[in-house]
Amino acid sequence: MNTAGIVSVSYIIATILFILALGGLSNPETARRGNWYGVIGMTIALVATILGVVTRHYEILLVALLIGGSIGIVLARRVQMTQMPELVAILHSLVGLAAVAVGFANFMDTSVHLAGAEKTIHDIETYLGILIGAVTFSGSIIAFGKLSGRISGSPLMLPARHWLNLLLLLGTFWFGYEFVVQSAAAGGMTPLIIMTVLALLFGIHMVMAIGGADMPVVVSMLNSYSGWAAAATGFMLGNDLLIVTGALVGSSGAILSYIMCRAMNRKFFAVIAGGFGTGGGSSAKGAEDQDQGEVIPIDALETAELLSNAKEVMIIPGYGMAVAQAQHTVFEITKTLREKGVNVRFGIHPVAGRMPGHMNVLLAEARVPYDIVFEMDEINEDFPDVDVSVVIGANDIVNPSALTDPNSPIAGMPVLECWKGKVSIVLKRSMATGYAGVQNPLFFLENTRMLFGDAKTTLDEVLKAL
Ligand code: TAP
Repeated sequence: MNTAGIVSVSYIIATILFILALGGLSNPETARRGNWYGVIGMTIALVATILGVVTRHYEILLVALLIGGSIGIVLARRVQMTQMPELVAILHSLVGLAAVAVGFANFMDTSVHLAGAEKTIHDIETYLGILIGAVTFSGSIIAFGKLSGRISGSPLMLPARHWLNLLLLLGTFWFGYEFVVQSAAAGGMTPLIIMTVLALLFGIHMVMAIGGADMPVVVSMLNSYSGWAAAATGFMLGNDLLIVTGALVGSSGAILSYIMCRAMNRKFFAVIAGGFGTGGGSSAKGAEDQDQGEVIPIDALETAELLSNAKEVMIIPGYGMAVAQAQHTVFEITKTLREKGVNVRFGIHPVAGRMPGHMNVLLAEARVPYDIVFEMDEINEDFPDVDVSVVIGANDIVNPSALTDPNSPIAGMPVLECWKGKVSIVLKRSMATGYAGVQNPLFFLENTRMLFGDAKTTLDEVLKAL
């Protein structure tokens, strides 16, 4: 077999491994295996490309691999679990930037001589690749800013913003036409640069207009865009593996966006149109604004007593469990209670934490058995039979006002209805609001107890008492 043949076979094997990886990642029990399939697939793809496709300038490739690989290792070692969404967002921006760079390099490459329909098709591929890449790049940078709190989570509501978007869209069509016409006559750089600027502005405007409450959808949407940007790069370079891999990432990101929208009871186009939800991040302001009465505090000893005497316990983890890194203590408590004959289950909201599957990853890390971890839809009906719900650092996902207050920024979002159980114990440090910035009436209900403090510290005390 010649080199091209070996590369083709390697690419097919890598593609199969990527599909197996996605299949594996769809279930916590097979996720580790799925991850390995992905790692092996990517290694095969890289080796085949370096040894079989690249023919010169190995020194540049090596230096780039060394720099990129070193930054990757340092980032992966340093990043906290709670910073993962920001990291993912900034990595998406690099995919977009790469698509733009490859697009311009491809356009300026004088060694390729195409004519007629072939040239037009290649020009359209280049144009689309740069367009999607630029939107992904600037949109992801803004998403990074919003998720890391560097930019306010409040939606930017420019007057006539839908018209502005329409104008930018029409502009890209017009400059696309200009580009293809001018490129046929050996020109085209000016419309390409103007479109790139318009696409960068569009990316900024699109994500700036999206409110804090819709950020879960934005993360998965940009994931999808980064896939399509990679696929477009694959078309430009005539690389089949990049096309397939990009399409896999693009479509799985799109499916995830759909799932996120459904979880939040939102329409995808309403999310893109923006304006939903207030600024992200915790602030005690909401609590002061809306005095909803007294809360009933509880201590670790009483909590342990309630848990020991319960038959049915539901644990609801949220972002605060990730911040406190309390998952290992949660596991120990679960083990102790199960040994006492208490039925302990976990209820996971689809947007709990700050990224899809955030809570599942933490619980898997702490070795909580998968068969007692349930999705919201599977257990929401069971709350009337639950003796004690333990809400660990969760807020928006257990907020009853999502169902009762049509003016709430999270109105319409399905939530875990723990207040229907006998008692809910809420673990948090203060009366501060959650990500959506709204106060939670659950805290003021008669059958709610507040266990104040860092979740890891308070749960350690509960475990000791147990
Ligand atoms: P949040 O509503 O953000 O509430 C987290 C709560 O944890 C806060 O009220 C905070 O209260 C508490 N907390 C923080 N650190 C703590 C610690 N060390 N110990 C104990 N408590 C601590 O979280 P949630 O209920 O998981 O809801 C997720 C929210 O994030 C939703 O609004 C969702 O739309 C949004 N979001 C989700 C995603 C994805 S994809 N999952 C992505 C972006 C945004 P104190 O400060 O008083 O402790």
